[in-house]
Amino acid sequence: STILYNDSFLRREQGKVDMEDRGYQFGDGIYEALRVYNGKMFLLDLHMKRLNRSARELRLSLPYDTNHLAENLDRLIRENQIDYGYVYFQITRGAIARKHRFPEQKIDCVLTGSVEAASKDEDLHADGIKVSLLDDIRWLRCDIKTLNLLGNVLANQEAFEQGSDDAILHRDGVVTEGTTCNAFIVKDGVLITHPADHFILNGITRIFVLELAERLGIPVEERTYTTEELRNADEAFITSTGVRVTPVIRIDDQSVGDGKPGLITLRLLRAFNLDVE
Ligand code: PDD
Repeated sequence: STILYNDSFLRREQGKVDMEDRGYQFGDGIYEALRVYNGKMFLLDLHMKRLNRSARELRLSLPYDTNHLAENLDRLIRENQIDYGYVYFQITRGAIARKHRFPEQKIDCVLTGSVEAASKDEDLHADGIKVSLLDDIRWLRCDIKTLNLLGNVLANQEAFEQGSDDAILHRDGVVTEGTTCNAFIVKDGVLITHPADHFILNGITRIFVLELAERLGIPVEERTYTTEELRNADEAFITSTGVRVTPVIRIDDQSVGDGKPGLITLRLLRAFNLDVE
């Protein structure tokens, strides 16, 4: 396959990482993952806006602007003949002898990108999933989409070992988000999700689902909610680029609502699916 390496297109085997790349040593970099539907990147502008924000927060300068990046990613999609699938790209601060502080001299950041074919509905679980409720042990800037994902990785693995599909995380009883997704509940007809602050990643799918809810006239509250509220919710679901809107029907050994995907959840999923047709 063809990959993007800075401003060049290489064969996958030619994409090599320097052993002193700060992304490799410190996780000092940012990324985005987005979905391709019918040969087009979905919600591209929102992803690029978030990328620029992540870069600003880490004082990392991109090698070129996001319009040019979008052109390169488009070419990557065409060269690999992807109609449906994923685009992943990341930018690290670059390679230099290891020292925590930013390099004094200017070094080039390293941008790499790849695509992966996936059928239109791959990774969807419309019948619902089981999640584990786990401690959120991550740092306090979860709003930045950085390469540092160990807190997410460990929780995701623990959930898997418990027989769950993912984990929903909480800080001292306040639900934040999933390990790779945002978390929503429905109570008495109201859609509730954690506000977009430093404790969660403001998912592009989250933003889109909130817009769908408004379009459908579903009342929304962006506020924190507790694990207790999650357990007693009428409905729960997660959102991400990969899973779109996925009902949560079990939390540890307890069912959510009547143990079936909720009506509002399914309305949102249907509305979402219409938009990616
Ligand atoms: N993960 N929260 C976390 C911690 C995430 O890692 C993700 C996405 C989301 C949802 O964001 P979006 O709707 O923009 O996909 C929320 C991506 C898919 C990943 O790491 O592969």
